[in-house]
Amino acid sequence: MSARKKVTIVGAGMTGGAMAQRLAEKGYADVVLQDEPSIVETMHHGKALDSAQSAAWLRFDSKIIPTDGWDDTAGSEVVVLTAGAPRKPGQSREELLNSNAAIVRDKVTNAVRNSPDATLIVFANPMDAMCHVALDASGFPRERVIGQGGMLDSARYRTFVSRELGVSIKDVHGYVLGGHTDTTMVPAVSTTTAGGLPLTSLLPRDRIDALVERTMKGGAEVLGLLKVGSAYQAPAAATIEMVEAILLDQHRLMPCAILLQGEYGVSNVFCGTIVKLGTGGVQQVYEAPVSDEELARIRAAAEATKELIGHLEPPVKV
Ligand SMILES: NC(=O)c1ccc[n+]([C@@H]2O[C@H](COP(=O)([O-])OP(=O)(O)OC[C@H]3O[C@@H](n4cnc5c(N)ncnc54)[C@H](O)[C@@H]3O)[C@@H](O)[C@H]2O)c1
Repeated sequence: MSARKKVTIVGAGMTGGAMAQRLAEKGYADVVLQDEPSIVETMHHGKALDSAQSAAWLRFDSKIIPTDGWDDTAGSEVVVLTAGAPRKPGQSREELLNSNAAIVRDKVTNAVRNSPDATLIVFANPMDAMCHVALDASGFPRERVIGQGGMLDSARYRTFVSRELGVSIKDVHGYVLGGHTDTTMVPAVSTTTAGGLPLTSLLPRDRIDALVERTMKGGAEVLGLLKVGSAYQAPAAATIEMVEAILLDQHRLMPCAILLQGEYGVSNVFCGTIVKLGTGGVQQVYEAPVSDEELARIRAAAEATKELIGHLEPPVKV
C-alpha cells in the first residue's frame, strides 16, 4: 500500500475520467476510479489503464486504481461524486432528480462506510439538490459535504471577463455564487476586479450584463458546440482545484455550495458562497458583501433549491 493520500472519483464518465487523469498528474495522491460494470462494462478499467500509461511521459508515480466495488476506496480523504444519468427523452426534471438522487444515495452510503472521515465533493446534477441527498445519506457535518458548481461557473465568468478586457485571466477575480443552474447562478459583479480595479469601472453596464448572461448559459454553449456529451475539461480542472486545497491544507478561498446556516439570511439550504478549503473540508464560511440585487438573487436561488428538494422521494432530513 502506498503512503500517498487517496482520493476516490465515483463515476468514470467524461468528467470523472478527466478528473482522474488531472489528479494523477499532480503526483501526490493515488486515485481510485469507481464505476458500475452494469452501466459501463469495463470502461473505468480501460480509462485507468490508459491514464496509467501516460505516466511514463508525464512523469507521475500516483496510481490510478479502477474498481467495481468499494474495498479499494477505503480510507479516501476526498470522495468526488460524478455518477449521474443524463435526462432521457420524455423524462421530467423531477424524475431525473429522483433517479440521480437514488444513484447518489447509494454511492454515498457505500463510500462513507469505507471512508468515514472523507470530505465529499458533490458534482452530479442537479448539484445543489444532490448535496442535500449526500448530506442526508452520509450523516456528515456540513463542513464535509461540498458542492462543486461555483468553481466552474466562476472560471467561465473569468474567461469571458478577461477576453472582453484583453487582460490576463490571472488578474481577474470574480466569483459566481448562488445556485448551479442557468437561472439561479449569481455572478457577483459588485465584487469583481481586474488588477484590483472594480469591473464596474472598466466596462459599461450593458457589456457587463452580456458577460453575465453568457456565463449563466455557459454550460449550454459548450454542450451546443460539442454535440456529444457536455463540458468536462473545465469541470475537471475546477474540481481538482478543490481536491488539492483539501489534500494540501491550502486554506484556499473558493466559491462552493455549502449548507447555509444563517449566511445571507438563509438556513438549511445548499447554496454557493465563498468558503475556506483545507484539511477536513470547509474551515470557514464567508458571506460576500454583495449588492442588494445580488443578495435578492442568492436568496431566490436558495428558494429554488428548497422547492426542488421538496420533490425528493424519499424526502431528505435537514
Ligand atoms: N457540477 C458541475 O459543475 C458539473 C459539470 C459537468 C457535469 N456535471 C454532471 O456530472 C454528471 C456526470 O457527467 P459526465 O459528463 O461525466 O457524464 P457521463 O455520461 O460521461 O458519465 C456518467 C457517469 O454516471 C454513471 N451512471 C449513469 N447512470 C448510472 C446508474 N444508473 N447507476 C450508477 N451510475 C450511473 C456512469 O457509470 C458514469 O460514470 C452529470 O450529472 C452531469 O450533469 C456536473
